[in-house]
Amino acid sequence: MIRPNKLANKNFLSSLDLSPNEIIHILELSKNFKNKKLNIDLNNKNLGLIFDKSSTRTRVSFQVAMSRLGGTTIDLNPTTSQIGRGEPIKDTARVLSRYCDVIAIRTFNHSDLEEYAKWSTKPVINALTDLEHPCQALADFLTIQEKFLDFKDVVLTFIGDGNNVANSLILCGALLGVEVRIACPKGYEPNTLVINKAYEIYKNKNLLKITNDPKTAVFGANVLYTDVWSSMGEENQKEEKDKAFNGFTIDSDLVGKADKDAIILHCLPAYRSKEITDEVVESKNSRIFDQAENRMYVQQALLSCLLY
Ligand code: CP
Ligand code: NVA
Repeated sequence: MIRPNKLANKNFLSSLDLSPNEIIHILELSKNFKNKKLNIDLNNKNLGLIFDKSSTRTRVSFQVAMSRLGGTTIDLNPTTSQIGRGEPIKDTARVLSRYCDVIAIRTFNHSDLEEYAKWSTKPVINALTDLEHPCQALADFLTIQEKFLDFKDVVLTFIGDGNNVANSLILCGALLGVEVRIACPKGYEPNTLVINKAYEIYKNKNLLKITNDPKTAVFGANVLYTDVWSSMGEENQKEEKDKAFNGFTIDSDLVGKADKDAIILHCLPAYRSKEITDEVVESKNSRIFDQAENRMYVQQALLSCLLY
């Protein structure tokens, strides 16, 4: 029976913290958790959750994942702890390391997450920063694997903002050798360092394409993926971004240009009639709610590897 392996890195701050084999191992464990073929008892270990931004899926899926593993969680709401009053990260991180066994953090600046990790003696997990959302990418590739089995046959097209979700998809896609196409308006391309890193990882450099044309990007694609146009913290750019992203909505017309069996993914929350239409969210090829469910299994797998 498959058992969790210890990961080479202490933390999971970026998709780059895992090797291709470790990603495959986590996906394999996730499937076993999903099929109820694997039982791991973490023996009351505690996960601390620090969320500087809102969350439904990430928070709840971590809480349920931990409880299914026989562990507990503590929600360190920054507004009711000293975190919100500006206690230095290096102090919070050292104190929490004495109480908790692992910490998941959702914050704005990726450098703040790295600062936590630097001072924490316990594993730190990225629960979303402005740069990356690596737990989301693991659930996305699990959902893709459930449908297509072999990543070599998959063309994944992301249409929308080259933000945290797109950055992690690119890095995880590069590690798995998946063809990834990103279509975004000019000026909203993914992070340059992320793109360069992905090109370094890919053996076949043609497998990553960044374009400003959604129609060519979806041609023959097996997976169509989108995310909100204005992310958390960008509320003041909403009007400007709504204009810039005109023409980048995943609607039935665009879906019709992809492979006929293409599945639709969205990390959620979704703004219908902005980045995606209601019809596409509710369509038979939508795997959006399976994708949300899969967050729980990949996090069970990740926690098992980090703590077991
Ligand atoms: N996809 C995702 O991370 O959702 P939440 O913001 O609800 O956690
Ligand atoms: N890009 C979005 C993802 C939400 C899960 C955000 O950062 O708000």
